[in-house]
Amino acid sequence: MAINRSWAADGLRGLSFSNRPRPVPTRFWIISLASIFIVALLFVGHTSDSLPSIPYLNKQPEQGQQQPPPPPPLPKPPKKGSPDDYDPENFEVGEDGLKIWEPPNMDALVHGVHASDGIKRKPTYPLDPFPQTPMTSPLEDNRPRPWLGAVICSAWDIKRRMLIRYTWMKLFKDVPMDQRFVISNPGPDWRAVIQQENATFGDMIVLDHLQEDDFTANTVKTVEFYRWLSEKSPVKYEFVSKMDTDLWVNARAYWDRQILPRLDVATSPDNKETVTGYKANVNYTTIGQFYYDSYHHTAFPHGAIYTVTWDIVTLLPKLQDRFHIIAGEDVTMAWLLMKGQQKVTMAILTQEEKFEFDHKDTRPGEKTPWARKGTDVTSSWHAMYGSEILAIHQLKNDDDWLMVAECFDERGIKEMPPYPEKEPEDKGEKPGYPRPFWTQIPNDFWETDVDGTLLCNGIWKLEPGVGRDMKRKGE
Ligand SMILES: *[C@@H]1O[C@H](CO)[C@@H](O)[C@H](O)[C@H]1NC(C)=O
Ligand SMILES: *[C@@H]1O[C@H](CO)[C@@H](O)[C@H](O)[C@H]1NC(C)=O
Repeated sequence: MAINRSWAADGLRGLSFSNRPRPVPTRFWIISLASIFIVALLFVGHTSDSLPSIPYLNKQPEQGQQQPPPPPPLPKPPKKGSPDDYDPENFEVGEDGLKIWEPPNMDALVHGVHASDGIKRKPTYPLDPFPQTPMTSPLEDNRPRPWLGAVICSAWDIKRRMLIRYTWMKLFKDVPMDQRFVISNPGPDWRAVIQQENATFGDMIVLDHLQEDDFTANTVKTVEFYRWLSEKSPVKYEFVSKMDTDLWVNARAYWDRQILPRLDVATSPDNKETVTGYKANVNYTTIGQFYYDSYHHTAFPHGAIYTVTWDIVTLLPKLQDRFHIIAGEDVTMAWLLMKGQQKVTMAILTQEEKFEFDHKDTRPGEKTPWARKGTDVTSSWHAMYGSEILAIHQLKNDDDWLMVAECFDERGIKEMPPYPEKEPEDKGEKPGYPRPFWTQIPNDFWETDVDGTLLCNGIWKLEPGVGRDMKRKGE
């Protein structure tokens, strides 16, 4: 839902008088006396310089000037629940022949909490500025790093951060990616611990104007992180990836296949091997897994990992200042872009490249994360299969995490081990292989953009040649 910070309108609501006729009694006299008092004040205001004049009241409307129009009626707070009258079929069409998209007018649901309820909560501790605590012995390395990989996590989740630092971050430290953890204000009790953590690892970004809680993390944290980047980051990155803590990322392959092809590389004139800088060769682009949320009637890249170009990083906080969207963090991005009428190229990760880890799909009788014979990598839920894997989500359990870590080295994914000669009997629950959510995108969400690419939800432009099946023609 859009939070309209219209203080003036709120004030007016408090002041509004009823038009119903009333009997004349005392009220009439009070108002009359008050009027006389105001007129007297005006008189004094005109004759004495020592008293402040009352603005507006004593200003004569100029000849021929219109009275200001009455304030517009206050928007009705949206109903709870998913709107059933949201019908893109009936949207107006602009000059370019494309529909003019608006987000649904609704009270967004954020992990079971209505946004209108969520915003009412008060900070439970003071949000004092977090004292900057640089790393004690920083590593000297001046390689240009055009890519920021940022894990959004709770300040208190130190154990997970250590697991991530010592697994994929360490394994892929040669990839030109800055690795960071983004936390909100940890509060006074935790300050010293987090300071010490940053003094040791130097990889923390603290958004100290935000309270650390689930509602913040699931709504405004990503946009506020982008605000921090636009306003305070010492480095301007070409690409910024936002990741969850339960996501394993094959940063080597992600760089080689998704980031590097979208960069122009400058090298030193003396030595072509020495890279001096990178510059994105695409604009307004996001890389992610396409997802559809039928409750919020919105398509967006799945929040476990998506990557955006720097122009999007600087645009979203500006749009947030205008539109004040409070919704799930991935829905928020889509609604802001829609309101700002900014189209974005959506580079698709397939379900084979990024998927939800399904333990039930692992090989029976083995303690590995590899998928059983006959797995379905077109499903959004499966186990590990093949060599295309870029990101694995839903590794909440530390054992699963470590099992997955075993399957990678600094070059990326290891070769998939062969299936056993004879598979042991499978006594466990069977995997269900659900269809990806983008398959539910309604027909009237799709349009053909002026340049011939497919446009979804008015904002997401698929790459040239990519069809509604998310495949490139000819594949
Ligand atoms: C963490 O350490 C890094 C590296 O020294 C520094 O640039 C950054 O400002 C520090 N962050 C905080 C919140 O102290
Ligand atoms: C991105 O957009 C800017 C401004 O419109 C333009 O100057 C620039 O050439 C564009 N870059 C690419 C790679 O398309």
